[in-house]
Amino acid sequence: MEKKNQLLHVAFIMDGNGRWAKARHLPRHLGHKEGCERIIDIYEECLALGIKVMSLYAFSTENWNRPKGEINHLFRYLDIFFKREIDRMVKDGCSVVISGDISKLPVKTQKTLQKSIELTKNNTRFYFNICLNYGGKDELVRAAKLFAQDVKDGKKEIEDLNEKSFEDYLYTKGLPPVDLLIRTSGEMRTSNYLPWQLAYAEFIFPKTPWPDFTKEEFRKCLDIYYGRDRRFGGIKDE
Ligand code: IPE
Ligand code: IPE
Ligand code: MG
Repeated sequence: MEKKNQLLHVAFIMDGNGRWAKARHLPRHLGHKEGCERIIDIYEECLALGIKVMSLYAFSTENWNRPKGEINHLFRYLDIFFKREIDRMVKDGCSVVISGDISKLPVKTQKTLQKSIELTKNNTRFYFNICLNYGGKDELVRAAKLFAQDVKDGKKEIEDLNEKSFEDYLYTKGLPPVDLLIRTSGEMRTSNYLPWQLAYAEFIFPKTPWPDFTKEEFRKCLDIYYGRDRRFGGIKDE
């Protein structure tokens, strides 16, 4: 397949863990456990393909509506994930980026995340952006407040704000826009994920639930992506 589209940034909404578990008569949290195993497979594939950034929706600002037990399991699996994988991420030249307010997470998970950021902060080969307690509306309101504060402090003029400079106030500062969004499990919505960054992304909605989303499934999505016409408001090349 001819790779006519560039692919710098791929974002995932890792959905369907609960339904995957339910279909196996397992508790929902075992779906999250299995889902965490897929993260590293897809990470490896992104690195192998020369992609620069992967973003993962791991916990939304709306996911606090879930039972406390499920939430605790989720953060525990993420803690285990980072403890297990951080050494290879360091070796791979991967930088861990967090999007979202992690101050509301269990202290243990916060510490693991802070350590992961610290250990990888100088890496530039690949960016692993994990969205935790992330909400797109929350991110935009936060950005507006940060800019307003800079104006108030005399560091910025209102005229300084434009589509480029606004990005400095987002969690994803410095990262390229999302080229491809993949949401597993067949749901066709963005659920408050990266509204700014997805403005010109291609969307693919595979039916596969996240715990079954293998490297092969990912490659099938990439074939679809490379076949798409991205026009960015222009017209197709003759
Ligand atoms: C996605 O799987 C994981 C998180 C939201 C953290 P779900 O838990 O939403 O799985 P379904 O959608 O209920 O199957
Ligand atoms: C979106 O999935 C959030 C994550 C995958 C972390 P949800 O399962 O929470 O979204 P809705 O409720 O179906 O929109
Ligand atoms: Mg879901």
